[in-house]
Amino acid sequence: MDRIRIRGGRRLEGRIAIGGAKNAALPLMATGLLTQAPVILTNAPALADVATMGHLIAQHGLTVEHDRDSRRILLDGAATQFEAPYDLVRKMRASILVLGPLLARYGQARVSLPGGCAIGTRPVDLHLKGLEQMGAVIDLDSGYINATVPKGQNGGRLKGARILFPQVSVGATENLLMAATLAEGTTQLINAAREPEITDLANCLISMGARIEGVGSDRLTIHGVDSLHGTTHAILPDRIEAGTFACAGAITGGELLLEGMTLDLFGACTRSLREAGVEMIQEEDGVRTRRLNGLHGVDVMTEPFPGFATDMQAQFMALMAVAEGASMITETIFENRFMHVPELARMGARINAHGSSAIVRGVKRLSGAPVMATDLRASVSLIIAALAAEGETTVNRVYHLDRGYERIEEKLAGVGADIARLQG
Ligand code: EPZ
Repeated sequence: MDRIRIRGGRRLEGRIAIGGAKNAALPLMATGLLTQAPVILTNAPALADVATMGHLIAQHGLTVEHDRDSRRILLDGAATQFEAPYDLVRKMRASILVLGPLLARYGQARVSLPGGCAIGTRPVDLHLKGLEQMGAVIDLDSGYINATVPKGQNGGRLKGARILFPQVSVGATENLLMAATLAEGTTQLINAAREPEITDLANCLISMGARIEGVGSDRLTIHGVDSLHGTTHAILPDRIEAGTFACAGAITGGELLLEGMTLDLFGACTRSLREAGVEMIQEEDGVRTRRLNGLHGVDVMTEPFPGFATDMQAQFMALMAVAEGASMITETIFENRFMHVPELARMGARINAHGSSAIVRGVKRLSGAPVMATDLRASVSLIIAALAAEGETTVNRVYHLDRGYERIEEKLAGVGADIARLQG
């Protein structure tokens, strides 16, 4: 199993190209199931999760080509089988995003329930309830979601519905948004998630002929159409990758130009980083981040966009571990997203986690140590800490990292980090 070795203490300086957003690429790939015309995605990141989604959609019967050099994904053709098997779904929960498109276009789907996840139970009840409101008949058996649209109803088509989400869900919003584009009549998604990746998905669907109003708001209105055509769509930059590098630069007292990024994509993270003492400036070709003087402890609470992103919580905590003073970090989205705490503590961080809150008391210096990656964002928080730690850190189980970060060791080495991937 690969591991990554970092020797801390180097100041990061330079430009980092920010890739296409993982959490946009995955739902965007599912739009290929909504039409048999070619869907081409550009600025596509070369990530393990993107490859998994590609295998999943290909086993449904579509042609899927991912050219890593040109960063293009082509999805073409019609689905010929409608089952998403456990061995693929268990690797990546976002597989559930094929459910809405398959039901909308083919009236049937058999998708494995995603099962457990390190950061929380992550049920899919909101996805299923919304689809049932649109006329789908859903039953669960032996770990699978069996979903059909009765032939007698609207000729086997989903029907528009008014769906109120009791809590904000990115995935449920995406699944139902895609399903509604081909439903009979109008669908309203109320209390919809507003993440930039959803706006990107809506814009792609509109370019395929979908009729969607309220894009970017928490109330989406979709007027169903009979069919969608193909498109070519550029995936928006990955705000979480960019935020991760902003924290990495800041913890080393460095200065980075995050190429392709725009400040609006950061939501509340911009304010928190600025309060912590990190300058964030929009320039022509990206966002410049630099450490002004010392780092200060800042309290954050994770919330749906435009609040502070839960996917940035672990990275920000690593930064706060060496800030002056204390900070309180509250995780409101997932019930078990503090797995980086004990690993950061091994490096000398002073963090006291109680339930959904953690008090971080900044220390002067962290010290390098062998640490274990447990999930995607926890593992990258260890790398951020290691960049400023005294001595050498080895991060084990880096396959977690490869799910969401493309060549992270190359990108960090390119701006001065002493970092290497050790095979085996
Ligand atoms: C997406 O997951 C992202 N993944 C996550 O990023 C991100 O952390 C999350 O949104 C929140 O922003 C992708 O986009 C592929 P949710 P998703 O539905 O859609 C509960 C990363 O690191 N919930 O918004 O699964 C759920 O348990 C990953 O890149 C239900 O109760 O998140 C959670 O507590 C991690 N029932 C909360 O809502 C449901 O039917 C938010 O989940 C659905 C969700």
